[in-house]
Amino acid sequence: MRFSSSVAGVLSLLCSQAVAFSLRGRDLESFIAAERAIALQGVLNNIGPDGSQVAGAGNYIIASPSKEDPDYFFTWTRDAALTMQMIVDEFIFGNTALEKYIDEYIKAQAILQTVSNPSGSLLPSGLGLGEPKYLANGQRFNGAWGRPQRDGPALRAIALMTYSDWLLRNGQSAKARNIVWPVISNDLSYVGQYWNQTGFDLWEEVQGSSFFTVQNQHRSLVQGTKLARDLRVTCTGCDQAPQVLCFLQSFWNGKYIVSNTNTNIARTGLDGNSILGPISVFDIDAYCDSLTFQPCNSKSLANFKAVVDSFRTAYSINAGIPKNQGVAVGRYTEDVYYNGNPWYLITTAAAEFLYDAVAQWRARHVLYVDETSLAFFKDLYPDVVVRQYNSGNYNSPFEQIMRAVLAYADSFVAVAEKYTPASGALAEQFNRDTGVPLSARDLTWSYAAFVTMAERRAGQYPRSWNTRQAAAPPATCSASSTPGVYAPATAAGAPNVTIACQINVIFNVNASTYFGENVYIVGNTTELGEWNADVLNTALALSAGGYSAERPLWSVNTFLPAGESISYKLAV
Ligand code: NOJ
Ligand code: NOJ
Repeated sequence: MRFSSSVAGVLSLLCSQAVAFSLRGRDLESFIAAERAIALQGVLNNIGPDGSQVAGAGNYIIASPSKEDPDYFFTWTRDAALTMQMIVDEFIFGNTALEKYIDEYIKAQAILQTVSNPSGSLLPSGLGLGEPKYLANGQRFNGAWGRPQRDGPALRAIALMTYSDWLLRNGQSAKARNIVWPVISNDLSYVGQYWNQTGFDLWEEVQGSSFFTVQNQHRSLVQGTKLARDLRVTCTGCDQAPQVLCFLQSFWNGKYIVSNTNTNIARTGLDGNSILGPISVFDIDAYCDSLTFQPCNSKSLANFKAVVDSFRTAYSINAGIPKNQGVAVGRYTEDVYYNGNPWYLITTAAAEFLYDAVAQWRARHVLYVDETSLAFFKDLYPDVVVRQYNSGNYNSPFEQIMRAVLAYADSFVAVAEKYTPASGALAEQFNRDTGVPLSARDLTWSYAAFVTMAERRAGQYPRSWNTRQAAAPPATCSASSTPGVYAPATAAGAPNVTIACQINVIFNVNASTYFGENVYIVGNTTELGEWNADVLNTALALSAGGYSAERPLWSVNTFLPAGESISYKLAV
């Protein structure tokens, strides 16, 4: 059944149930309008302590209400920061009711920064900031995990700096300087100190260097340089920005972006990582030849085509879709998580990427097609050649190309629409063969990603983060680092933690186990889970890295507070 948008508009005034029911039958425009509202509400429902879907959570943005298969009832620093970036943008675009969520985030993150965890602690050297996730009540998560993940501090700093820039322009620079900056400063210190060390990628699987992480790290330091100057404070770590930019160039292999390097995984490197990165550093004022890999950059476009094309043959739901139309996009084609499927947030990210690129060409009034980007444009506008296209009237080649790219963008949204259930609920993934939603339900990040896509499509762009002033990279890259300065952000609500004297303790246990079994230490301290029955998430996990036929060794190398006696038990 199809409704005209005017009929749908009348329905929405009469009965919100009917709107949700008819979501699928309507044109793209009205789908996006309805889904954008559902998505924003979907995000708010997942924010504790009052969100309707996350009863029992603390003051945190929970990844999903799903508590099993998979258990996503945690707060991830990355998911939370990207979600908060959307909330800050919506706030700045005029939704003033959202400011309370921003204030609560500032306080909650100030506290979280001080929570010691398996990655380390805030003091003395910031290592705890690299922890990827925490329990829904903000306590440390002790389970085995891919840690550290170094995108989290950069993304959190970016969200907080975007808000601080608003404060500054709205007569509240004291709040920005005294309350928010100390939180930001810890995160930027972390970036400046550790950007050159490997960590786990955004998919939490690969230990190495991740394009998405490095790209956001660079943005955070450039934005930090500007904000610190405006607030008349010092940014420790921001001086590393040119080095990070230098390193960022190394992910380009001449044809596309290799998303994970300094690792030896058997993959092509084509990964949604490199589509999410450019939209997260999108700057409406940037030049397309900026080394920051903006969406309108030729390398970013060539990479976009390579990544999207890799999925054309990977999923049966993409079969037969012509090259000028969008497809369902996943993490990477070798993915086996839930058998490897397309993700809502990556499919809408593909659309967002294209809306961003068009906005940048239109803002610059020019498009340079070069050898690198030619193939991308050929799919959409076969007459294209390598040359400069200046903006012109409706019939100009420039405008024809813009419309072709926008239609291409819309076709990715149409794919997301096709596999969105009538209720508008967005899970994490949808089945590669049937399109049925799967994995975590009501994924906060899926909702946030829908909203940012809808913003760009509606011509709503965040303010520039100063790409044009970003310092050029040095001629030769070097592996540098600036020691960070870390302190609890007490003005924002952090407890006044001090350096704890910690003792390095190594547990070595001989325990013969069957495949699939794991060994944990449970005990009476926070490090050992305080005898929590939820052993998987709170106990200290041992590793079987040294297990052999000769010796069934399980071990863990950890830090425990000095001056306490500890009781513990081993659990299999
Ligand atoms: C959970 C992670 O969140 C996900 O990204 C990963 O694919 C699976 N673990 C498997 O490692
Ligand atoms: C798995 C994803 O791979 C990861 O990026 C995300 O942070 C978690 N799920 C939580 O949503």
